[in-house]
Amino acid sequence: MVPKKQVKDLAIFGAEPAFREPLHVGKPGIIGRERFLERLDDIFERRWYTNDGPYLRDFEGAIAAKLGVVHCVAVSNATLGLTLLAGALELSGEVIIPSFTFAATPHALQWQKITPVFCDVDPKTHNLDPEKISKLITPRTSAILAVHLWGRSCNIEALQEIARRHKLGLFFDAAHAFACTHKSVYIGGFGAGEVFSFHATKLIHSFEGGVITTKDNELAEKLRSMRNFGFNGSDGVAYAGMNAKMTEISAAMGLTSLEYMDELIASNYENYCTYRKYLTGVSGLQLIEYDDQEKNNYQFIVIEFNDQLAGEHQKRLDRQSIASIPWFYSK
Ligand SMILES: Cc1ncc(COP(=O)(O)O)c(C=O)c1O
Repeated sequence: MVPKKQVKDLAIFGAEPAFREPLHVGKPGIIGRERFLERLDDIFERRWYTNDGPYLRDFEGAIAAKLGVVHCVAVSNATLGLTLLAGALELSGEVIIPSFTFAATPHALQWQKITPVFCDVDPKTHNLDPEKISKLITPRTSAILAVHLWGRSCNIEALQEIARRHKLGLFFDAAHAFACTHKSVYIGGFGAGEVFSFHATKLIHSFEGGVITTKDNELAEKLRSMRNFGFNGSDGVAYAGMNAKMTEISAAMGLTSLEYMDELIASNYENYCTYRKYLTGVSGLQLIEYDDQEKNNYQFIVIEFNDQLAGEHQKRLDRQSIASIPWFYSK
């Protein structure tokens, strides 16, 4: 698409909209269709649709290898992944989370009867501000659940230090952060565990899905049991489990999209550079920049506006047939 460079090119002033068909928010691409359909055939041939199947095992292995983590437990989505992880860590009372995140972060805690306590984020990084955490800690606080928003890693060292000093658990919502690094180390091995989302709108997707990664052998074992009704291998039930299994179809899609990851990131990076080129220096808005020293998946291109401009901008996008919704935002 050729960028519109003059005011008269804008649809709001009567020019043609940029898109004939409405462009939906988070419209997924079609990647690896042939490869996926081959795998789908294979699933039908084998008649193994779910329950720890071969595609699931391959997918978990591929993710663990990519991130350099010991354990990867695939689940049906990241919301259930976070819910399971909070349960497996036996957290209770209150857990501190950032005030700027998707609804799934607090909801996962609420399903475990844990009260989410919202902490301010640093306006520069959009991540939990470690300096604001201490005053929220009470005798009921059991952990910190930090979010690597937009795939930009939290101040992990500062969070680890607070958790150590106050004897709190620490785990991460890494829904956005697949293939992103912190100090050149892939996100996935920090805290007690990290949870990634592979929802259809994410970089790597399995239609719906997610994984929990951890270095802890016992925790991984417990999570595998808990995602499968709490079964302990035989007839017995070891934990209050749930059904949070990933199906073979999802794992096959996940494996397929993983094969295209480098291409996807390169294309996202190109888009990011285009936005950066055209938006840098435009008054009234600010593009959130990624650290060139770290790997990012560039899945999110984030622009900050003031309230008045955000409404105005939404109107302009609408006229160009580009759908937009407030995803999550601060007031
Ligand atoms: C920060 C964050 N956490 C959790 C989730 C939940 O992921 P899922 O849709 O896989 O349940 C999302 C979804 O986009 C998210 O943005």
